[in-house]
Amino acid sequence: MDKGVKAPFLGRMAYFCPVMSKPTLTPQENNFQAIISHAKEYGFVFPSSEIYDGLSAVYDYGPYGSELKKNIRDYWWHSMTQMHENIVGIDAAIFMHPTTWKASGHVDNFSDPMIDNKDSQKRYRVDHLIEAKADSLRAAGAGAEADALLAQMDQLLAAENFEALKNLLTEQKITCTVSGTSNWTDIRQFNLMFDTQLGSVAEDANTIYLRPETAQGIFVNFLNVQKTARMKVPFGIAQTGKAFRNEIVARQFIFRMREFEQMEMQFFVRPGTQMKWYEYWKEARLNWHTQLGMPAHKYRFHDHVKLAHYADAALDIEFEFPFGFKELEGIHSRTDFDLTRHQEFSKKKQQYFDNDIDEATGKPYGNYIPYVIETSIGLDRMFLAVLSNAYEEEKITKEDGSTDERVVLHIPAKIAPVKLAILPLVKKDGLPEIARELMDSCKGQFKCFYEEKDAIGKRYRRQDAIGTPFCVTIDHQTKEDQTVTIRYRDAMTQERVHISKVKEIVMGAIA
Ligand code: GAP
Repeated sequence: MDKGVKAPFLGRMAYFCPVMSKPTLTPQENNFQAIISHAKEYGFVFPSSEIYDGLSAVYDYGPYGSELKKNIRDYWWHSMTQMHENIVGIDAAIFMHPTTWKASGHVDNFSDPMIDNKDSQKRYRVDHLIEAKADSLRAAGAGAEADALLAQMDQLLAAENFEALKNLLTEQKITCTVSGTSNWTDIRQFNLMFDTQLGSVAEDANTIYLRPETAQGIFVNFLNVQKTARMKVPFGIAQTGKAFRNEIVARQFIFRMREFEQMEMQFFVRPGTQMKWYEYWKEARLNWHTQLGMPAHKYRFHDHVKLAHYADAALDIEFEFPFGFKELEGIHSRTDFDLTRHQEFSKKKQQYFDNDIDEATGKPYGNYIPYVIETSIGLDRMFLAVLSNAYEEEKITKEDGSTDERVVLHIPAKIAPVKLAILPLVKKDGLPEIARELMDSCKGQFKCFYEEKDAIGKRYRRQDAIGTPFCVTIDHQTKEDQTVTIRYRDAMTQERVHISKVKEIVMGAIA
């Protein structure tokens, strides 16, 4: 479960985007800042409502960002619902009956223990304060002491012994980084769900929640989907959509947002077979990433040691972001917890009748509540993984020995926002007409971009900066022999091909 925050609350002003000015940045931080600036400058990601100084941890996707995001979503949807005959999709509402969240445990448990410093008014997640202290002990060579501190913290968190946790902060002389004091409030649980009112008359209005995960929309529709799509266990239900969490401190750009999008799939299996399917999805999901062209060495699995009460196994697929390895996707074996709880709270049976014959008894497996393996990935986090992996500030040595620089996004061709740029060398001599004809023959199949303005080198650089894998230049020779120059983004090599081959080359790369 990815819930929680990484840094101190920034108070009332945190609703507005903090100014990114740090005196000294590490090369990784510099690179990350450059990626954020590039994302804005080239129309990928903008701070939300920027003209009002933005809204912290909320972002808008621009013309190229929304294309890239859609392409990642489509790639996921296609691999789930088209490449697996036993997975179907749904599109459930964001608002759900409030009992859903009582049954799922979110009302009571989807919270983090937080503490405020009375002098600075800053709010912190308690485990992060203690972890930071452990890090400083380790850095000072006191590794054993750090381990003991973390073990004690785990114990107290598990027991929800907040008084002892607060004492631990005092004993360890943990202070607020802003005020420098240890003038702490008591520790309280802070629920991460946003609530709102349904109904126009205040007295009659019901509190409802903005969903903090899309998964529950799948669980409550389990039987609707199973019956209408005539699915047999094992089968899956996939969904993409918005989720909302009131992250106390959200930073690291689109890594941790208050409004974000998830791509989740719940795979319903016969009880007792869940570990087999857990292993299957663990590998299948990693393959999904590498088959897209993401580098295998930037991925690793992180098994959860402390399991949530409903899980019998769980792991994160971590990716090496510019700020280190962090969770990108979760694979969770959720047992029959969710369906059982919904059966209990709704008083509606959530059983499935399995008429396959159990070889051990010679009889049908009969009625049971299926177990569930969940795969859950944040679309925005995947976007950030793709963007940060793609970004390169490249030094180029030209044939004449002179040097140049370019910023290029090596986005995998199949998800690149624009696949082909069509560039007539000049605005006259019939070249635009040929270019427009090529544009018209390709734009129904994939996203193309047409441009006549500026020198060709400048136009290439602009396409590099948004990650367009192919540029085609129409010049005077095209009129003679119907050939064009096709330029490949990554190698920057160029070759002449017949104009009729262009579509085929692009289609081959994005298939
Ligand atoms: N249904 C299971 C679930 O929601 P999770 O680990 O809490 O599990 C799944 O979230 C994924 O959603 C994470 O791996 C992450 O990619 C993404 N995610 C979670 N919180 C996020 C946030 N505040 N901002 C962006 N993405 C987030």
